[in-house]
Amino acid sequence: MNLSVFPTARDAAAALADHIAGALRTKPDLVLGLPTGRTPVQLYRELAALTERHAVDFSRTTTFNLDEFLGLRPDDPASYRRYMERHLFRKINIDRERIHVLDGSAPDPEAECARYERAIREAGGVDLQILGIGSNGHIGFNEPGDSLMARTHRVTLRPETRRANAALFGGDAGRVPGEALSMGMATILQARSIVLLATGVEKAASVERMIHGPITTRLPASFLQLHADTLVVLDEGAARKLERRTENEERRR
Ligand code: F6R
Repeated sequence: MNLSVFPTARDAAAALADHIAGALRTKPDLVLGLPTGRTPVQLYRELAALTERHAVDFSRTTTFNLDEFLGLRPDDPASYRRYMERHLFRKINIDRERIHVLDGSAPDPEAECARYERAIREAGGVDLQILGIGSNGHIGFNEPGDSLMARTHRVTLRPETRRANAALFGGDAGRVPGEALSMGMATILQARSIVLLATGVEKAASVERMIHGPITTRLPASFLQLHADTLVVLDEGAARKLERRTENEERRR
């Protein structure tokens, strides 16, 4: 895994926005995988600012979001679809036909997951997958457990994940849906290139285990160690345990 550490979350987001803009210059019809959550808000702000300055062009880009809450219609104010509209899609020159977000209100969730996998395949696969990481080590909504699913599937959210998403539901974790639809581990790992963005000290422990720990279903992000082209972009908070580890290694020498 390649690692880039920046002084602040804002610097990390700006660097990743430049990385995405560069990838789009090389391949204007890039297929981009996108996360939601608190972490990418600043990244999306930076991409909107680059769009305003005509420094990036999304007109031929296709996007696939990682996940969506089960039972929410795309126009529900708490849906990830609406989050994406608010933070990114409304602010960039993307062709609406090329936006893909799982439909949490689909009458047959399993069929919706199969449709999504097909759509990714038909688009030629994901070129660049942007990820966040949960404090429990999840990526997408692939939660820690005894096993992981390869393909886009229906998942039960863990209590800590529901708590982390409470802000979208008026601060009430009890209102966060108990289930979601998420790209699977193989769907994510088949992306040609992956960038994981993590900021804040509350991510430091899962980041350290992701990079230095064993590959385990107990920390889904650890599977990124198997991918040949993964970049981890951190601020100093999220890198804190890595630095301490490096310092300890230095001292032992
Ligand atoms: C959401 C997603 C999740 C988040 C993770 C971190 O689409 O893929 O894996 O990236 O839960 O969320 P924040 O950024 O809110 O800490």
